Amino acid sequence: MSELLINVEDVSFSYGENLNGSGHHKAVNSINLSIEKGDFLVVLGRNGSGKSTLARLMNTLLLPTDGTILIKGMNTKDGKYLWEIRRTCGMVFQNPDNQILGTSVEEDVAFGPENLGVPPDEIRKRVDESLKTVGILEYAKVSPGYLSGGQKQRVAIAGILAMRPECIILDEATAMLDPIGRRDVMKIVKQLNQEEKITVIHITHHMDEASKGDKVIVVDKGEVVLQGTPREVFSEVERIKELGLDTPQVTELFHELKKEGFEMPEDVLTLDEAEKFLLEMLKNQV
Ligand SMILES: Nc1ncnc2c1ncn2[C@@H]1O[C@H](COP(=O)(O)OP(=O)(O)OP(=O)(O)O)[C@@H](O)[C@H]1O
Ligand SMILES: [Mg+2]
Repeated sequence: MSELLINVEDVSFSYGENLNGSGHHKAVNSINLSIEKGDFLVVLGRNGSGKSTLARLMNTLLLPTDGTILIKGMNTKDGKYLWEIRRTCGMVFQNPDNQILGTSVEEDVAFGPENLGVPPDEIRKRVDESLKTVGILEYAKVSPGYLSGGQKQRVAIAGILAMRPECIILDEATAMLDPIGRRDVMKIVKQLNQEEKITVIHITHHMDEASKGDKVIVVDKGEVVLQGTPREVFSEVERIKELGLDTPQVTELFHELKKEGFEMPEDVLTLDEAEKFLLEMLKNQV
């Protein structure tokens, strides 16, 4: 049974005067998008394509210039739903240092539920649970300043989890992390999606992270120009390049080998898949 969580209906947005003063170009242009409960949607697109604008529109940080966004049927333009929408769809941003406010990790995670008027006993319970889920319960009393970037992003995710969200929007939340921090955060996000059925919208420039999603959209000049499963999207190697993006390295390698005349599949996304295919191929040659 699928259940519609976010409905973006013909939504456009312009920031008014453009940064370079060239009038009212649309940062988001007539986007239609349906996101179902439990989806893991990856959003790709070159710098300035409108990804963050789209994310902010879904979280009521911006309101559509045209069109409608419904979060569980709640119109983002209707002020009375503001907090319910932000509680339903929590957002994690790029810079871990800008989103942590508490003097201790647990205090920071408690902010959200405190603002929602959750009773103290329940807050205590939620803070512990959330910290445990993201694997940093032992840092509960520590000052966030002592944590690594990856750990800080995990605190930010715990802060959202403590508000019992149905959806988490990550706007390049892994961009400032080292490979280990990135892997940890992706692992937690994947786990939240699979085990807790939390809907995930993940904006990233890392193509290897895109293969973790079950749907991918590519945004260009404010429009959705490509969408499908990661496999479908990345098999369009030339189109992806035109859009200023890379394909995962193994997909690219297979594509180049195919151009050289080898019988290679075009939809290989991960090293594991590539290894399996190459082993078969080599075995058949001996
Ligand atoms: N506060 C703002 N005021 C005016 N124009 C803005 C503002 N923020 C973004 N824009 C413009 O809106 C367009 C979309 O920007 P947006 O930040 O949504 O892109 P993005 O896809 O998130 O890019 P990046 O990958 O660099 O984060 C760009 O042309 C950008 O210059
Ligand atoms: Mg952005």
